[in-house]
Amino acid sequence: MRKKVTIVGSGNVGATAAHWISAKELADVVLIDIVEGVPQGKALDLLEAMPIEKRDSHVVGTNDYGDTANSDIVVITAGIPRKPGMSRDDLLNTNYKIMQDVVGKVVANSPNCILIVVSNPLDAMAQAAYKISKFNRERVIGMAGVLDSARFRTFIAEDLKVSVENVTAFVLGGHGDTMVPLARYSTVAGIPITELMDKATLDRLVQRTRDGGAEIVKYLKTGSAYYAPSAAVCEMVEAILKDKKKILPCAAYLEGEYGIKGLYVGVPCKLGAKGLEQIIEIKLTAEEQAALQKSADSVKELVAVIGA
Ligand code: LAC
Repeated sequence: MRKKVTIVGSGNVGATAAHWISAKELADVVLIDIVEGVPQGKALDLLEAMPIEKRDSHVVGTNDYGDTANSDIVVITAGIPRKPGMSRDDLLNTNYKIMQDVVGKVVANSPNCILIVVSNPLDAMAQAAYKISKFNRERVIGMAGVLDSARFRTFIAEDLKVSVENVTAFVLGGHGDTMVPLARYSTVAGIPITELMDKATLDRLVQRTRDGGAEIVKYLKTGSAYYAPSAAVCEMVEAILKDKKKILPCAAYLEGEYGIKGLYVGVPCKLGAKGLEQIIEIKLTAEEQAALQKSADSVKELVAVIGA
């Protein structure tokens, strides 16, 4: 049996995630939206690309949650994106209402699925989905660390003029202005970047990573990034469907790990067939731990507003 991935929201992030997933033939894809015609049109267009790509992924667009039944993974991208000058936090109340509607319908149709939450503000929306779905934490994971780390890796590779393949990096914490790029654990072919660049350069790349989403919003004016966010979703989907046991930074519900309890925050996670299979606890310096705590505190404030 083919695997089935539903993507809620047929905007740029959702449709481009459908593109990556079908182009890699990871699963059949259902694209669902409340807007009539858009998911159908985008899905059909993508389906018609499959003969050229030599892929047999089936892609269908719909407005009917019945078509999403028994999905293995449901990716939630629904919600409004940022406009220039807005922070991700400005989206809180609107996207929370959308989350309440969507998660109920998703769970009713796919009670055994794994949820990947992409809507912003990311960590608070993941927490909302966790509470609304009543799933265990293994099955509700937020995407953001993969994206933020990919941005950090891009900037490191460009600065050092090395292959992106050589660069590994970890960004922890919430997906917001307080995210925590971990320079000590970021390497080029195994060499810590702290040995390859001076502090001023490193600080500049860290800040550009923190502002990475806003940098794109400023250019686009009418929306936010979607190629890299959807590629990040695809990497998580692949890790789960192929049971790869891949360590990726994701937003996970912490139950005391890193000294944080009852909150979604970005940490290194092992993703496999069961979803979140393990939270990896790495040793942090006092300064890193304080930065992570500060980031968690800002997630907590948002979560308190929506009571999730
Ligand atoms: C970004 C948005 C999608 O970081 O949160 O680009």
